[in-house]
Amino acid sequence: MIRNAGARRAHWSSRWAFILAATGSAVGLGNIWKFPYMAGESGGGAFVLIYLVCIAAIGLPLLMAEIMLGRRAQRNPVDAMAVLAREAGASAAWRALGVTGVITGLLILSFYSVVAGWMLDYLVLGAGGGFAGLDSAAAQSRLSALLADPQRMLLWHSVFMLMTAAIVGGGVAHGLERANKLLMPALFAILLFLLVYGLIWGEAGRAAAFLFHADFAKITPGVTLAAMGQAFFSLSLGMGSMMVYGSYLKRDTSIVRASVAVAAMDTVVALLAGLAIFSIVFAHHLEPAAGPGLVLQTLPIAFGDMAGGALIGSLFFVLLVFAAWTSSIALLEPATAWITENTRLTRPRASALLGTAAWLLGVAVVLSFNAWRGVTLFGLGIFDALDYLSSNILLPLGGVLIAVFAAWVMKAGHSRQELNLDATLYAVWRLTLRYVVPLAIVLIFLQLTGLLPRLT
Ligand code: TRP
Repeated sequence: MIRNAGARRAHWSSRWAFILAATGSAVGLGNIWKFPYMAGESGGGAFVLIYLVCIAAIGLPLLMAEIMLGRRAQRNPVDAMAVLAREAGASAAWRALGVTGVITGLLILSFYSVVAGWMLDYLVLGAGGGFAGLDSAAAQSRLSALLADPQRMLLWHSVFMLMTAAIVGGGVAHGLERANKLLMPALFAILLFLLVYGLIWGEAGRAAAFLFHADFAKITPGVTLAAMGQAFFSLSLGMGSMMVYGSYLKRDTSIVRASVAVAAMDTVVALLAGLAIFSIVFAHHLEPAAGPGLVLQTLPIAFGDMAGGALIGSLFFVLLVFAAWTSSIALLEPATAWITENTRLTRPRASALLGTAAWLLGVAVVLSFNAWRGVTLFGLGIFDALDYLSSNILLPLGGVLIAVFAAWVMKAGHSRQELNLDATLYAVWRLTLRYVVPLAIVLIFLQLTGLLPRLT
C-alpha cells in the first residue's frame, strides 16, 4: 500500500459530485463547437458511429486508467506518478509525466481562457440586443473588430481567468464541487431548453439528417483518426486532470461505473448540442460553418433573425461559458494541487499565482491576433503554436505514457484491486490499454503532426 494515502485529503462528498466534476472537465468548447461540425461534415451517422466506438474502445479504458492512478495515489499528478512508480518498482523518472501534465494544463488554459473570453463578449453583446438584424457581412466585421481589439479581449480574458482561479482557490468542497454542482445542472437545463426550442421552431429534421445520415463513402483513414483524436480530447485525457479529480475519490466509489457515466454524458452533450445548433442554423437558411465561424458568425445571424433572439442567443453563450468554465477549472487544478501539496503556499495563493502565469501567456495569445500578428514559432502564430504543441504533441504523449504505465508498469494486482472488475472484463481492459490504446494514440499523433504522409 501507499503510505498515508489520502489520510487527511479532501474528498468529493459523493459519487455524483465526482461524476459532475469530471463531466464538467470533459464537456467543453470541444463538444459544442467542434464535434457538431466535424460530425456533419465527415459522414454524419457514419462518423458518429466511429466516434462512439472510439469513445468506448479507446477513451473509456484510458479514462478508467487515469482516474485509477489518481485514486490509488491520493496525490496530485506529479507526486502520484512518483509514488506509483516507487510502488511498482519502476524508474523515478515517471514523475516527469506528472510534471508534463501540469505544464500542459497551464498551456491549454492560457488560450482556452482567451477563447472563453470571446464567449463572454458575445454573451454581453447578445444580452444587450446586439444580434438584432446582423447580416453575414456585419457578423463578420463584428468578429474581426473583436479580434483587432486587444484591450477588449484582454478584459474578458482577465475576467474569465479570475472566475477560474477563484473557484480553484476555493478548494475541493467549496470550490470545485460547489461550482460543478451548480454549473453542470444549469448547463444541462439550458441545453435541453435550446433543444426543445430547436425541435419546435427550428429544422430539427434537417439537423438530424445532417448529423446522422450515414455516408460511409466519407469515412477515410483520415476521418477515422480525426474521430479518435476528438474522442481523446473530448474526455480531457492525457494531462492529469482526470487523475487529480480521481485523487479526490473515496476508496469505495466504483471507478468503472463513474467512468461510463462521464463518457456517456460527454457524448450525449456533444450530440444534443449538434442537434440544437443545426436546428437553428437550418431554420434560418444558413450554411453550417466550421468552428469559430459557426458559433461567432453563423449563429449570431440566426439569433438576430428570430423572435426572442436576445434571450436564446444569450442563453447559448451562457451555455458555452459554463462549459468552458468547468473545463478551465480542471485545467488549473493539477498544478494548483501540486503546488499546494508541496509548498507552504495556501491554495488561494497557489491558484492565484498559477492563474497569473497562464494569464500572462494568454496576453501573448491575445496579441497574436493583432499587434503581434507577424510573430511566429515554428511557422505558426502564438495561438496556433500553443494549441498545436499542447493538443497535438503533449496530450497524445501523456496519453500513451499513462496507458503504458497503467497497463505495463503497474502491478496487475493493484490495478485489478482499484477497478474491481471481474476477471474477463479486467483482461479486456488491460489488453486494450496495452496494445490498442497506445497504437491508436501514436497513429493520431503521426496524423496530427503530419509525420506520416497526411491521410485524407
Ligand atoms: N475536453 C475539453 C473540451 O472538450 C478540452 C480539454 C482537453 C480539457 N483536455 C482537457 C479540459 C483537460 C480540461 C482538462 O473542450
